[in-house]
Amino acid sequence: MEKRIDEIINILNKANYDYYTLDKPTITDQEYDRYMQELIKLENEYPNLKRDDSPTQRVGGMIIDEFKKVTHEIPMLSLGNVFNEDEIRLFDERVKKVVSNPKYVAELKIDGLSVSLLYKNGKLVRAATRGDGVVGEDITHNARTIKSIPLTINKAIDIEVRGEIYMSKDSFNKLNESGENFANPRNAAAGSVRQLDSKVAASRNLDCFIYHLPDPEDYNIYTHDDALRFMKELGFNVNPNNKKVNNILELLDYIEYWTKNRPNLPYEIDGIVIKVNDLHEQARLGFTARSPKWATAYKFPAEEVLTKIKDIIFTVGRTGQVTPSAILEPVRVMGSVISKATLHNEDYVVSKDIRIGDVVSIKKAGDVIPEVVKVIKDRRDGSEKPFEMTKNCPICKEKLVRKEKEAAYYCVNEHCPAKKIEKLIHFTSRHAMNIEGFGDRIIEDFYNMGFLKNYEDFYNLKDHSKDLMELEGFGFKSINKLLDEIENSKNNSLERLLFGISIRHVGVKTADILANNFKNIDNLMNASFEDVSSINDIGEIIAKSVVDYFSLDENKNLISNLKNLGVNMSYLKQKSDKETEFTGKTFVLTGTLERFTRTIAKEKIEALGGNVSGSVSNKTDVVIAGKEAGSKLDKALKLGVSVWNEEEFINTLSKY
Ligand code: IVH
Repeated sequence: MEKRIDEIINILNKANYDYYTLDKPTITDQEYDRYMQELIKLENEYPNLKRDDSPTQRVGGMIIDEFKKVTHEIPMLSLGNVFNEDEIRLFDERVKKVVSNPKYVAELKIDGLSVSLLYKNGKLVRAATRGDGVVGEDITHNARTIKSIPLTINKAIDIEVRGEIYMSKDSFNKLNESGENFANPRNAAAGSVRQLDSKVAASRNLDCFIYHLPDPEDYNIYTHDDALRFMKELGFNVNPNNKKVNNILELLDYIEYWTKNRPNLPYEIDGIVIKVNDLHEQARLGFTARSPKWATAYKFPAEEVLTKIKDIIFTVGRTGQVTPSAILEPVRVMGSVISKATLHNEDYVVSKDIRIGDVVSIKKAGDVIPEVVKVIKDRRDGSEKPFEMTKNCPICKEKLVRKEKEAAYYCVNEHCPAKKIEKLIHFTSRHAMNIEGFGDRIIEDFYNMGFLKNYEDFYNLKDHSKDLMELEGFGFKSINKLLDEIENSKNNSLERLLFGISIRHVGVKTADILANNFKNIDNLMNASFEDVSSINDIGEIIAKSVVDYFSLDENKNLISNLKNLGVNMSYLKQKSDKETEFTGKTFVLTGTLERFTRTIAKEKIEALGGNVSGSVSNKTDVVIAGKEAGSKLDKALKLGVSVWNEEEFINTLSKY
């Protein structure tokens, strides 16, 4: 019976390979199903003959409790980006400084998520996501369901290969038609791979291209295109559109071709990857901290698409600025669905003559807010409604004020709830007090329920913890985590507070300059206009705004209240001139620290002359390990790097 099972497995594996990897089916669906049924039956009758690499394993059903962490022996790096021909030429020039006549391999940049596949003795034993590049997650149970990932390769060797898991446009559309609502195929693929139950991934029709061999010398391979050929021979799905190019002109041709033909591909690509072909040359070029110098990614330019403006609404920002936004008929741009675009201000809308009902072209580049580029005037039918800037605040109805020489209108009502909410949101933001766990919605809800009216209230929230735990969506754990975050924010260095309290014209950089120069809030509050404006990089407008701010009693009260609540009012980032136990050393933080957020711990180390890095290597001097430290701690122990616990860290800090 074992022989028959082996025979069927061979037939089915070959059929899978022909179908999914070569795109050339060799047996009919009915034949495939018949073999599959026979195999399932035999495996049920003889469970001890069930092979790990049997195609029956692909139907899923394996459920794991949690994702195990996986450390990548060779880090999974990402790529630098170039955006136009000039930058491609610059990349080529930089390569040519090291290598005289480089040849490249140009590849499609598949828009999915990268994966590392590990084979032992020819069998798939582990699949892992990239994670932060050093530590990823074990997704073997889901990878096994992907038909273009071979469970057994054509040689019984140990090997790691890397590539991209993705979802075809077709499967993506079907999935969303079935009721799911993923914004783009990449999110859908990532969401499917991050499932504990492999049935989900099995039902999602994922695919995988392999494009990287981390250890080519082990197989006597010396060029990237040989590596691709070798991996294809082993049975991996290697993209047939990869191309070796002999010079920059051939490369530009390849890019032009795929820029045009990209819509005809059955999967999404977001650019072209360019890799130096010769592996010795790659080694000579080396790496930056994050990415190889021998490769880069050309990213396609922002896509423009047409849609219709359904409405124009007005929103209030924390400064009181009222901004018009277009509500659009939802369209897919650059892989995500857009239903809103900024219209900046009245002048912008008037100069482009944007009307409600207009067909417009909109553009989105990277993470930038989508913008209306132009109106397609030919598409007007007379029903469009001309734009009219609102004269009143959409929230508190106060009359708006247009400041001299500014295009923007402002709500100047200090008690406008929209402004207050936006300010509270800003107070918690990353570059301000950096209080994690507050979404915009939570702040709005807490405001409306009366828990949060002003900045001081953040630090009084702990008195309401019982009430907060009763709220829907919250529990003991989440509220306590939030309260811990708030408590930790009291230790922030002064510039975070200065940025957080929304003093007009004080951005991140100005806040830092002010805090660095005045060292504590009292010095700053007692400073005259001359004192402030005499500082390098601080102009008169900023100086006036700062002095005006602190001349108001309500702001003086705010500072004194926050001080009484225990919020730090001094600059902590000052680099110490004296030698400390941190000077010149590289630290890695791992696990959960109880007394600090990561950001604060980092600031403290840097203030005492140390550096903080994200991954452990032989360049690391000390790993600071909090609770539940994982693989970084293991790696530190393996490499013999010193490890401090939180107590030792605090003791060392307290010496300075
Ligand atoms: S090479 C050191 N090749 O793009 C080699 N990456 O922005 C690093 N990607 O993290 C990767 N298609 O997830 C490479 N043909 C391709 C790719 C590709 C898609 C992804 C990959 C990588 C990201 C970098």
